[in-house]
Amino acid sequence: MDKYAVVGNPIKHSKSPIIHTLFAQQLGDALTYEPILAPIEAFEKTLHAFFVSGGLGVNVTLPFKEEAYQCVDVLTERAKLAGAVNTIKQLSDGSLLGDNTDGAGLVADLRRHGVKLQNSTILLLGAGGAARGAIYPLLKEGVSTVHIANRTAQKADHLALHFRAYGSVTSSGLNEIPDVHYDVIINASSSSVTGDALPIDSRIIEQASCAYDMFYQNELTSFLLRARECNDQIRCVDGLGMLVGQAAEAYLLWRDKLPEVEPVLERMKLEMR
Ligand code: ATR
Repeated sequence: MDKYAVVGNPIKHSKSPIIHTLFAQQLGDALTYEPILAPIEAFEKTLHAFFVSGGLGVNVTLPFKEEAYQCVDVLTERAKLAGAVNTIKQLSDGSLLGDNTDGAGLVADLRRHGVKLQNSTILLLGAGGAARGAIYPLLKEGVSTVHIANRTAQKADHLALHFRAYGSVTSSGLNEIPDVHYDVIINASSSSVTGDALPIDSRIIEQASCAYDMFYQNELTSFLLRARECNDQIRCVDGLGMLVGQAAEAYLLWRDKLPEVEPVLERMKLEMR
């Protein structure tokens, strides 16, 4: 049977095995998809052992996405720009192709929620790996400006500089965000993991039509809660759809078929209750 896996540390809580199993059922594909715990110092060894054993593709999760970028033989353009790899496919000549489907998962989820990206202005909170992976896919959708705001302003400036050749990308600290209209605010910082409040002016949230948190949990995240408090009309979306969306894009890379996200997302929501 065709073999796939997700490699990370820790890995026990990964939802990828259930998502890919549901995709395979949906498409009538016979495959296995297992979680693999890689020792922190032995990611590359673990990865190669899986491919030597006949594996066809791997998802990579924390904390190995940057290391995976270094281990592969070829990179897609979006992986190059993200500086990280979350999906690896073994090509017919045995070489490893590294891709990054996180940004495509985000864009697909925003689209699924009817959020118009063409000519829109995006406020992107955070300047770590998650933010970096989102910028190029957003610009490719025809977004007019991405403003990156980060707790450490210099990191946002650095990221903006990196992407300036691809579109209009500006930057600031979280408390110096230019007071203009943003259509969508995306939280790509890890503030929701800890439940920390972000020091953003309420006026900015009041004017936006969508608040998107890449983090997800059963209840509204701290960022979405704040967005709802500031603006009861704002559409609040968490990152569960992005998770399923990036998995669908990985499935497409591996097997040339794009699974339907909606039924799998509904199942995941039930599982999480
Ligand atoms: P990831 O890969 O999930 O993006 P990361 O690369 O460690 O993780 O980046 C985490 C991001 O969340 C950073 O932008 C970080 O801000 P700093 O660059 O100032 O460290 C941001 N972040 C983490 N905790 C935060 C908090 N409590 N409030 C605001 N921003 C936070």
